[in-house]
Amino acid sequence: MILEMHDICKDYPMGKSVTHVLKNVDLTVNEGDYLAIMGPSGSGKSTLMNLIGCLDVPTSGTYILGGRNMTKCTDNQLADVRNKEIGFVFQSFHLLPKLNALDNAALPLLYGGVGKTERRERALEALKIVGLEDRIDHRPDQLSGGQCQRVAIARAIVGQPKLLLADEPTGALDSESGRMVLALFEQLHKNGATIIMITHDRDVASHAHSIKYIRDGILTGGETYA
Ligand SMILES: Nc1ncnc2c1ncn2[C@@H]1O[C@H](COP(=O)(O)OP(=O)(O)OP(=O)(O)O)[C@@H](O)[C@H]1O
Ligand SMILES: [Mg+2]
Repeated sequence: MILEMHDICKDYPMGKSVTHVLKNVDLTVNEGDYLAIMGPSGSGKSTLMNLIGCLDVPTSGTYILGGRNMTKCTDNQLADVRNKEIGFVFQSFHLLPKLNALDNAALPLLYGGVGKTERRERALEALKIVGLEDRIDHRPDQLSGGQCQRVAIARAIVGQPKLLLADEPTGALDSESGRMVLALFEQLHKNGATIIMITHDRDVASHAHSIKYIRDGILTGGETYA
């Protein structure tokens, strides 16, 4: 088992009242799973992804990732887990505009203290996996949207994280680029990656091997495919 959430709640204080965004969420993900979490806008998908990715902490409940209790970690420990154990892919890529594809892909290694030569080698390897070895010197504004997302995927896998998290990874892409991103996830999954993909799009979700649904902050089990 790679992660386990038990009875997770996330509340946001809003003036005198409180918004209950996640309600008693239980979630188990095993190594090698490819899970989609589906739900309408405002249902709590990104809030849940932020908790899974240790970008935020729950109001209550327990979160175990890789055998460690994340709800007991300091901010520095959480930052280290984010850097080493989780790869992130966002709808809007979140690339640094002044860096070329190679340096963007290498960023987690830079933050992780890896030396320059090894950074470049490993970033190039990751860019080869996403089919962009001929674009390493291009900055984001010199790349198409689909190419930017592939650089973001290279950045997400460069540190060989335990878990790949994607929040609406095809949301900003045309259908052809979206298909390419989903094909890449399928390939990474075949090679052993554990993937959690968040989407409101049923066609996108159907590429995963199991689907769970979130509605009004309540997560329910869904179907599992072969
Ligand atoms: N910092 C915050 N303070 C108060 N409420 C918040 C905060 N962040 C999110 N919410 C509320 O939590 C709910 C869930 O938000 P979230 O961003 O997780 O939705 P989502 O499912 O990702 O939606 P979308 O598909 O539009 O991205 C929303 O109703 C939102 O208004
Ligand atoms: Mg969202």
